[in-house]
Amino acid sequence: MKHTRIIVTHYGGPEELRLIEEECPEPKNGEVRVRVLAAGVSLPDVLMREGLHPETPRLPFTPGWDLIGVVDRLGDGVSGLEPGRIVAALPISGAYAEFVCLPQRELVPVPPGLDAAEAVSLVLNYVTAYQMLHRSAKVGQGRRVLIHGAAGGVGSALLQLGRLAGLEMYGTCSAQGSPAVSALGGIPIDYQHQDFVKEIHRLTGEGVDAVFESIGGTHIWQSRKALCSGGTVVAYGLTGSLRGGRSASGRSEKRHRFREIAIFGLYIVGGWVSPGRKRVVPYSIQWLKRLRPALFREDLTVLFDLLQQQKIKPLIAQRFPLSGARQAHELLGKGGVTGKIVLTPDG
Ligand SMILES: NC(=O)c1ccc[n+]([C@@H]2O[C@H](COP(=O)([O-])OP(=O)(O)OC[C@H]3O[C@@H](n4cnc5c(N)ncnc54)[C@H](OP(=O)(O)O)[C@@H]3O)[C@@H](O)[C@H]2O)c1
Repeated sequence: MKHTRIIVTHYGGPEELRLIEEECPEPKNGEVRVRVLAAGVSLPDVLMREGLHPETPRLPFTPGWDLIGVVDRLGDGVSGLEPGRIVAALPISGAYAEFVCLPQRELVPVPPGLDAAEAVSLVLNYVTAYQMLHRSAKVGQGRRVLIHGAAGGVGSALLQLGRLAGLEMYGTCSAQGSPAVSALGGIPIDYQHQDFVKEIHRLTGEGVDAVFESIGGTHIWQSRKALCSGGTVVAYGLTGSLRGGRSASGRSEKRHRFREIAIFGLYIVGGWVSPGRKRVVPYSIQWLKRLRPALFREDLTVLFDLLQQQKIKPLIAQRFPLSGARQAHELLGKGGVTGKIVLTPDG
């Protein structure tokens, strides 16, 4: 049986995403073959395509951090799972495909009746948002937070989960994202025309308890200035490494990937030693999942429950077939996207 998947053979722009047809993969011992119903398209995919993300696989690779799919075939040694079950996974790469084989331990059951595109939004974006809110910053009822990129995939998830937690929320966004940020309960700050540090101090007086910092580089230090005493910056993104969806520096070498991580490290140490009782902590979904896999399953299960109870409603910006991966990346790179872009390989 044949299937199609997207491959990247050179780091670079959206034109590097090519659709190929090949034999369907066979599950090895302990693996399950999954037919992909929905694969998320997110900035980490773009950063990997450009060769900028620390998790970038060797070439050639198939992008795709997160998926929802149907169990299609079981490899030897797999038990407790039947074909037809709907599952979720965060393979980090490989989800832009019709079929993918994954170790059974990577699969999380999905409750019946959920829309696959909405469900896939939870796997990367909402788990990231949930863990940063409740495990990193630990902010509760009445606390003030600043969310950068608030109209984006992770940003809109932070707003929905922050509203449930009773937070007072401020969100940086472009003018296009402003209505969505307001609708989700945030106070928008136009990052293209306003100084967010000044705005936060004008609006709150002493500053916010937590900043969710997705931009990276020197922006982390600016974010620290928006904190009140005792506050926390959760640094988790590299959006500033991109300009119009391409590498801002024009580079994609391996050493460049680790430069940003070194900068993160400097700001974290700087946050501890500088006066003002303000800290900078890093967050990485993949590292938390590697170190504490049970937390990923637990948090994703809580989020599926919230989706089933309609307490959260992921914003789906647009759905594309697998062959539309290039257009999906072009759209994300152009900016002004509200919510999550999703590939639906079975149409
Ligand atoms: N550490 C982790 O575990 C983890 C997990 C998931 C994602 N991430 C990171 O999270 C970030 C967001 O990912 P995503 O998929 O949610 O991206 P996304 O959907 O493209 O959202 C990014 C948002 O940031 C906005 N933005 C761009 N430059 C900005 C600036 N200078 N100030 C404020 N907002 C700005 C964009 O607005 P406009 O387009 O309107 O300009 C867009 O709404 C990425 O850096 C990604 O790598 C990290």
